[in-house]
Amino acid sequence: MTIQTEGLTKYYGKARGIIDVNLSVREGEVFGFLGPNGAGKTTMIRLLMDYIRPTGGRAIVLGMDSHADALKIHARTGILPGDLALYPKLTGEENLRYLASLRGGVDWVYVRELAERLDADLSRKVKAYSSGNRQKIGLIQAFMHKPELLILDEPTNGLDPLIQQEFYALVREATQAGQTVFLSSHNLPEVERVCDRVGIIREGKLVAVEEVAALKAKALRQIEIVFDGPAPLEAFQQIPGVRDVTAANSHLRCTIAGPLDPVVKQAARYTVVNMISQDPNLEDIFLAFYGREGNNHA
Ligand SMILES: Nc1ncnc2c1ncn2[C@@H]1O[C@H](COP(=O)(O)OP(=O)(O)OP(=O)(O)O)[C@@H](O)[C@H]1O
Ligand SMILES: [Mg+2]
Repeated sequence: MTIQTEGLTKYYGKARGIIDVNLSVREGEVFGFLGPNGAGKTTMIRLLMDYIRPTGGRAIVLGMDSHADALKIHARTGILPGDLALYPKLTGEENLRYLASLRGGVDWVYVRELAERLDADLSRKVKAYSSGNRQKIGLIQAFMHKPELLILDEPTNGLDPLIQQEFYALVREATQAGQTVFLSSHNLPEVERVCDRVGIIREGKLVAVEEVAALKAKALRQIEIVFDGPAPLEAFQQIPGVRDVTAANSHLRCTIAGPLDPVVKQAARYTVVNMISQDPNLEDIFLAFYGREGNNHA
């Protein structure tokens, strides 16, 4: 295991950070830590990096104790914190050169390549940067020494879509090179796209750990199908996993808990004019796992 936490708990005074998190991240995987604002993602990452001390439990990173061996862990890890500190009066390049010197030097050709791919401006003083460009400097310093482990707090924050794609490519290349990636996100499509497994954190508690494929299969999906005649309501009421079926004229709406395929096959027996599928959002995923009353359906 590249990361292992046992009963990891953090209270800020009386305020809940994370509670009793038991998590394992395997070597070479991309693990997504998914949760809404305030769920505890940044708290988890700060604990892993020993920026803060836990109230209870412990974390093992790269086989070492997160506190006792913090310096050794940092040397082998690339970190994008949520609040990266840079020198505002230095340029991006000067900041990176300084950070590289702390690491005993890095391959500067690779730094240039990263900057080019992320379209980062290294020439201006950091205080003049947009938040997107700051984020790019943060990503470059995390990747530049090709660490075994990358720990990234909401890495695509502030990046526009094309640059996000480039970041996903970097993550794929990292795993091909054997690196392990732990990233936090509040964006389900992003996690589905880039991660192998996902842990869902809600109100400080790790409520599920799933392969991304399994998560997708469990997600509730809203579908609207438009037919060339009256919507065949009855044809959809008996399909397992299909609920809340309603029809108005040629429009049929339903909620699908599980695979899409039986619905598509049934629809194909009629003439379909349009089909609209809404990506489940985080709340839909939580509902699929916990139901409306919070009882576990998983
Ligand atoms: N320094 C602090 N003092 C008190 N409470 C804190 C502190 N830092 C975090 N918290 C609380 O801990 C909980 C988890 O916060 P955290 O920043 O880890 O969430 P997050 O998942 O990273 O959220 P976001 O998506 O907004 O970044 C929140 O309720 C937050 O208010
Ligand atoms: Mg955060």
